Amino acid sequence: MVALLLDWLELLVRWTHVIAATCWIGSSFYFIALDASLKSNPRLDARVKGEAWQVHGGGFYQMQKFAVAPEFMPAELTWFKWEAYGTWIFGFLLLVLVYYFNASLYLIDPSVRAMTPDTAVIIALTSLILGWIVYDALCRSRIGQSTRNLAVVGFGLLIAVAFAYSRLFSGRGAFIQVGALVGTIMAANVLMIIIPNQRKVVKSLLAGQAPDPMLGFIAKQRSLHNNYLTLPVLFTMLSNHYAFTYQSRWNWLVLACVFVAAFFVRHWFNVLHTGAKPDWRLWPAAAVPILGIIAVSALTAPGASTGHAVGFAELHDIINARCHTCHAAQPSFAAFAQPPKNIMFDTPAQIVGQAKLIYAQAVTARAMPLGNITEITEAERQAIGRWFEAGAKGP
Ligand code: HEC
Repeated sequence: MVALLLDWLELLVRWTHVIAATCWIGSSFYFIALDASLKSNPRLDARVKGEAWQVHGGGFYQMQKFAVAPEFMPAELTWFKWEAYGTWIFGFLLLVLVYYFNASLYLIDPSVRAMTPDTAVIIALTSLILGWIVYDALCRSRIGQSTRNLAVVGFGLLIAVAFAYSRLFSGRGAFIQVGALVGTIMAANVLMIIIPNQRKVVKSLLAGQAPDPMLGFIAKQRSLHNNYLTLPVLFTMLSNHYAFTYQSRWNWLVLACVFVAAFFVRHWFNVLHTGAKPDWRLWPAAAVPILGIIAVSALTAPGASTGHAVGFAELHDIINARCHTCHAAQPSFAAFAQPPKNIMFDTPAQIVGQAKLIYAQAVTARAMPLGNITEITEAERQAIGRWFEAGAKGP
């Protein structure tokens, strides 16, 4: 009963997290595109930086952006912040519910590094805070004065973090931690820089003073970082459905390639929004790292193993010993109220019917058993492989 309620809680938190993230990404993409599309026009008020006309939902909109701020405080002003805060709050809750409460299943992989759940959670949490401190210091340093230098150094650090995580945590845990770290930086950009700077501008307006243009400039810079970081974060969030992305030893390289490809794709759209000529070179530039990842995953996939022929009886013993605790109509593993993903290995027919999935999860991706909690051996993985390759026959 408790496990079922926890499953429901997890689903509701996940749903809310995704809804908030959709709103946040929507507004982020919209405003970056709007900003890029603004055109100056002599007809406009001198304080207005640019104007864009848009049509949506049957209506015409005339959008104008002030160079710094209007001279007066408008009666109503819409702020965009709860999309970001909501995404982070529910995302963090989900991280705790799934990865930190079940650290031995999802965060730790003894074949990568053995550690206690407490140690893993402390490292994971501390790194999220440290990540923000280092990023923020970097933005404020001399390197931060050049967008290009900041991007290069920031990218290098991100890869270093991905590598460190990949040597500490399970592949899945490493990927979610990279996503959580970048997501935390993005939400903290809103909470600690963008919104406070906007508040200072509003305060100056109310006091009848001219606001400092640097405040808006810095907020805009952080907002642009968030824009470029969105696609990589989405990849890390979706990757847990695809064990082949995170299971290899080279998983940090997969992330590095994704980050490069995502940068070019985002840049394509940002250039397009300005109305400039599209830069077609950006697509091959994005395709190369993606092909690189596919090559990494193909080259690191385990080859066919050699050894004695494995019949169903031997295979059945392995499944019973290593998989059945979780994948049964009534799992004996306490964390699960029902079989995960409704995958059950109670009968020979169920096992044979799901041979392809078993092979993919236990042999190719090595994602199962989860956290290798049931301590499957290398020889057993290879035995599953040989059973499958010989036609996955039943009893
Ligand atoms: C500790 C519990 C546990 C054990 C032991 C376990 N699994 Fe799983 N399995 C899970 C969970 C949880 C999921 C769902 C993962 C997710 O949310 O992505 C899963 C998912 C799967 C899937 C579906 C994957 C997909 O996304 O389509 C397959 C297939 C699978 N397991 C096979 C196995 C095999 C084969 C073994 C034994 C070698 C095994 N599992 C051992 C918990 C377990």
